[in-house]
Amino acid sequence: MKKRVYSGIRATGRLHLGNYLGAVKGMLALQDYYDCIFSVVDLHTITVPYDPKTLKQSVREIVLDYLAAGLDPQKCHLEIQSKVPQHTELAYLLSTIYPVSRLEDLPTYKEKRAQYPKYVNMGLLYYPVLMAADILLYKAEVVPAGADQEPHIEVTREIARKFNSMFGNTFPQTERFETEGQYVPALTGQGKMSKSLEGSFINLTDDLETIRKRLASAPTDSGTLSGQIPKEGGVANLFMLLKLFESDSVYNKFEQDYREGKIRYSEMKNVLAEAIYNELKPFQEKRMEFKENSELVDSILDTSLAECHRMSEETMREVREKMGLR
Ligand code: TRP
Repeated sequence: MKKRVYSGIRATGRLHLGNYLGAVKGMLALQDYYDCIFSVVDLHTITVPYDPKTLKQSVREIVLDYLAAGLDPQKCHLEIQSKVPQHTELAYLLSTIYPVSRLEDLPTYKEKRAQYPKYVNMGLLYYPVLMAADILLYKAEVVPAGADQEPHIEVTREIARKFNSMFGNTFPQTERFETEGQYVPALTGQGKMSKSLEGSFINLTDDLETIRKRLASAPTDSGTLSGQIPKEGGVANLFMLLKLFESDSVYNKFEQDYREGKIRYSEMKNVLAEAIYNELKPFQEKRMEFKENSELVDSILDTSLAECHRMSEETMREVREKMGLR
């Protein structure tokens, strides 16, 4: 039997280039070799302030992004988390064997608590348990995700071990799959691209003009300094992007220009804008096709969700029985 893979993306707005090169490319690489379930985790989405009127549309946008990026329903299962109620059932059952104190210590919980001091809810604390349930519901052994998710995967392993020791061997030890190019630097020159940081990202649906404009406001230096490319800041990030999207020869040319103190950033940004746009263009065309064919998308989802129900019910029957609930 093929190994199972599970990953999910929250439905907070559209995907940007960072999500694409981090999460989605990792998913693409795996669907040919493993039995994959890729989800839109809407139940995780609602643990922070959100708009119930637009949630459904946001979920749909991610589904379109998934399909346009090349996730192939013939090869993998697409899931909308809230449509598979076994997630919440398993999360509740797993929450009974895991300590609150450990959840309170997790960095993501602390960050969110600081970010939304008036919105510290049970769901936020419970977040990693639900994520463990997402993964264990399908007994997934591999999870493509960014490095920031490692503490959650560790919780998943702890819960699996605890369950196995209390109720008998049931769940695997899940590993995170490191995705290449997962660190996509912010245009602002600080940290990585993030949806919540204005001016830091490029959207997957941006046209060439928009990409040019976004790059134009990325900070640089006076260009007269010669020497090594800096390790951080605007120039460092532009070079990192160039490395991700351009050939070695183009990268080397600009690196040499930099070292010789004759770099022209407007030229470099233009080259970079075109390279990024060329990467995105086929994605944008495919996305438009799916967007215009909503019946096709609906039927893909229906088929996929039926498979997800079947797989997750299999695990739940085993779990209920082992826990003495039937
Ligand atoms: N916590 C993940 C994030 O913020 C989203 C997520 C929820 C997830 N459930 C998952 C990722 C299961 C991988 C596997 O990106």
